[in-house]
Amino acid sequence: MHRAVMPQIGTAQAWRDAARQFLAAGIRPEDILWGDANTAPDLFGTDAPLRPNGQVSVPRSFVSMASSVVWHGDPERFARLYTFLWRLKDAPHLMTDRGDRDLSRLRQMEKNVHRCQHKMKAFVRFREIGEADAPRRSFAAWFEPTYHTVEPTADFFVRRFSDMDWRILTPDVSAVFENGKLSFHEGQEKPHLPEDASEQLWITYFQNIFNPARLMVKAMQSEMPKKYWKNMPEAAFIPRMIADAPARARAMAQAAPSLPPARMAQVQAQLAAHHSAWDGPSDALPAAIAACTRCPLHCTATQAVVGEGPMDADLMIVGEQPGDQEDLSGRPFVGPAGQLFDQIAVQAGLDRSRAYVTNAVKHFKFTPRGKKRIHQRPNTSEIDHCRWWLDAEVAQVKPKLILGMGATAAEGLTGRRDAILARRGKVEEAPDGTPVLLTLHPSYLLRLPDRAAKADATAQFRADLETAVRMLA
Ligand code: URA
Repeated sequence: MHRAVMPQIGTAQAWRDAARQFLAAGIRPEDILWGDANTAPDLFGTDAPLRPNGQVSVPRSFVSMASSVVWHGDPERFARLYTFLWRLKDAPHLMTDRGDRDLSRLRQMEKNVHRCQHKMKAFVRFREIGEADAPRRSFAAWFEPTYHTVEPTADFFVRRFSDMDWRILTPDVSAVFENGKLSFHEGQEKPHLPEDASEQLWITYFQNIFNPARLMVKAMQSEMPKKYWKNMPEAAFIPRMIADAPARARAMAQAAPSLPPARMAQVQAQLAAHHSAWDGPSDALPAAIAACTRCPLHCTATQAVVGEGPMDADLMIVGEQPGDQEDLSGRPFVGPAGQLFDQIAVQAGLDRSRAYVTNAVKHFKFTPRGKKRIHQRPNTSEIDHCRWWLDAEVAQVKPKLILGMGATAAEGLTGRRDAILARRGKVEEAPDGTPVLLTLHPSYLLRLPDRAAKADATAQFRADLETAVRMLA
């Protein structure tokens, strides 16, 4: 019999290491006694040396699930995980088997842990404890989590409160963040924490944002379960607020409408500016686009990719957004989709160097997967924000014809999101009346797996480019 006692701090790593070794040595679940600091397995277990029997490979989805489940309170969690991992070894499809009872129990535990983490993020209340003249402000919070969620949730607080020292004390494990360093310690008894001025400010804020006309007691209690109330200063005021709500709501309904706040004019001016057109000098446009922060895409992209080509081109070609290679090089349509476009354009007699080439969205949108950046289609809000620049480019270049490639370009140019397959080959209009010939996006051709479908779509794409050439002849 083997024995594995998991520490209270660093549990996830310890379980992963132990499970890997047991699996590599071919140790069956029934031959292991798992335990933690509270439920250490009996002394009959032995720590017999393990002989690895080869490499183990574990699906990523299991690793992710296990990294949450280990923080659950169920004393059987380590054994349950290992038993499932053992089965998974010969049946990798199990991770997607919705009917599997072991998996559904583990998924439920994972969900419980996530919910507990969410509650911790929402209900930890810090009180200031530091000296007034200390170089960093210092805070402490007492919290009673349902599961062992201090360690996996601490990073959230590090990101939020990196410029101050803080500690989250719990009966289970405590997290301490001091001078930028996070450490974990054993749990402790509830300490006495002073009330502080920011607490009064928070209570006032909480009472002010409470809208008596929208009170839903059940939803409120399920979102903020009572067991957390005792450590939340604002909770003492909730019963009174609930009791007063009907009278306050009636009074609100009877009161005369209030005047818009003084800052309304400023907000309206900002909104108007948002919908107006860019009106800088033409040579300032590329730098203005490059500095764009109108939507969050600029935060993750390497750079904005500005359109390129003659500023008096008859033809403007609009794609979706820069891809991985465009994002790195700063030029539109240089990656695989651009190369395919170039090839077909030559066949169609379209001279790319005489066209102005740009995108509906100027920043690359992606999600990281390992070392790769996987393209994500821009949403309507991102397309709307970037239309400001597309309109400015159209106004500067004044093309006779715009070739819109793909659904995003079509949406950016016409405001309509309808399916591109039904619209391709037809001419629509930009808001300023410029004709917009719609076609497929070259990356759509690249993605089609079926040879015949790919050949058909390529022929349609080529025909649309030929139409563009004819329209400008
Ligand atoms: N796809 C696009 O839509 N634009 C580019 O610049 C590259 C790929």
